[in-house]
Amino acid sequence: MTSPRPEGWIATRGTPLRGEVGVPGDKSVSHRAVMLAALADGTSRIDGFLEGADTRATAAIFAQMGVRIQAPSASVRIVHGAGIDGLRAPAGVLDCGNAGTGMRLLAGLLAAQPFDSVLAGDASLSRRPMDRVIEPLARMGAVIDAQEGGLPPLRIRGGRALRGIEFDSPVASAQVKSAVLLAGLQAQGVTSVREPHPTRDYTERMLSAFGVDIDFSPGRARLRGGQRMRATGIAVPADFSSAAFFIVAATLVPGSELRLRSVGLNPRRTGLLAALRMMGADIVEEGRASRGGEPVADLVVRHAPLRGIAVPAELVPDMIDEFPALAVAAACARGTTVISGAAELRVKESDRIAAMAAGLRALGAEVAERADGAVIEGGALAGGAVESLGDHRIAMAFAVAGQLADGEVAIADVANVATSFPGFDELARQAGFGLRAR
Ligand code: S3P
Repeated sequence: MTSPRPEGWIATRGTPLRGEVGVPGDKSVSHRAVMLAALADGTSRIDGFLEGADTRATAAIFAQMGVRIQAPSASVRIVHGAGIDGLRAPAGVLDCGNAGTGMRLLAGLLAAQPFDSVLAGDASLSRRPMDRVIEPLARMGAVIDAQEGGLPPLRIRGGRALRGIEFDSPVASAQVKSAVLLAGLQAQGVTSVREPHPTRDYTERMLSAFGVDIDFSPGRARLRGGQRMRATGIAVPADFSSAAFFIVAATLVPGSELRLRSVGLNPRRTGLLAALRMMGADIVEEGRASRGGEPVADLVVRHAPLRGIAVPAELVPDMIDEFPALAVAAACARGTTVISGAAELRVKESDRIAAMAAGLRALGAEVAERADGAVIEGGALAGGAVESLGDHRIAMAFAVAGQLADGEVAIADVANVATSFPGFDELARQAGFGLRAR
């Protein structure tokens, strides 16, 4: 038996990927489900909740503020909502762990509460910019102190009466949009947000499911403050970003035919499917349905040779979390892949452009880093040692690279995979990956 939280992995070629895989619940949806259920009136049930460290940290934060949350079985939460005015002042610091979504959305949510609070995170989160939420929230009347450079921990001064704003977001970020909307729900007057490019709209859809009157269309959202939320049931779809590693692996490994069950296909998340199809991938959607108001389908992925492409800029925000997986696909394709317009990747859980460029080079690939992307020459990968920089998606992407490399790929620092995909290694082995703890 391998330890459930190994320090590192050795990834080697396995067998063709075959059979069926069910990946865990969506991280973005799980965070939001707990937050809105906690602030709603009445009892909500969440099915398919992601049992990851990030989403559990968010649930623990609401428990610290007096919300009763039961876990009758894995992936189920019963949340006894406290109402928008029913949270209790927390005794200590609120620990968001590794979760940018947790911290940024909570900043908006807590800015209008009557008590002070402090949001902190792990070493990676402590390096991520929070000024992007502090600035619009301050315009609404919030008082949030950060460390030098707008970094966490955040000290939120409660008891402020917030005013609605018209916010033209300079950055295409669902977290920023969501923080402003959650503050706006508790502000006087109307709050509206416009984005430079439409981002995932889970907050808008879920506010609506909780009975909030909100107008939204791609790239814009508008609501009136002072509305209460009513408890509801939330069915969380399987996380596309977790499925992405299996999609790329099954595409690359000859002889593979893998079915990914009931994957969330929100159009603001599936840019990777479009890019891989442009590269020649064979991915079929079967049994389209709706789960909790979100489109889902089984994805049947068969091996196909890939060719490099210039990734269209308009796809980038729809695949921002899939860059590590795409970079591996590009390194194994025929020809050159160019990714640009993706500067946001520098401020994710790690600098994902630098992390992927360094790791792929260690495996013999030719990669030129750009400020906002990378140029990746496809070819054969060799074995080697790579660093995940403590970033879950970098670790999983190199586990995929190991399925193609001509030698062992040693991946350091993989414990953070538990933030978004606990049990990845076990599931990957079942599907055919060569992957072991080291
Ligand atoms: C998320 C939004 C994205 C994404 C992150 C989850 C969300 O971040 O990268 O993994 O749940 O709203 P940005 O809002 O910073 O683009």
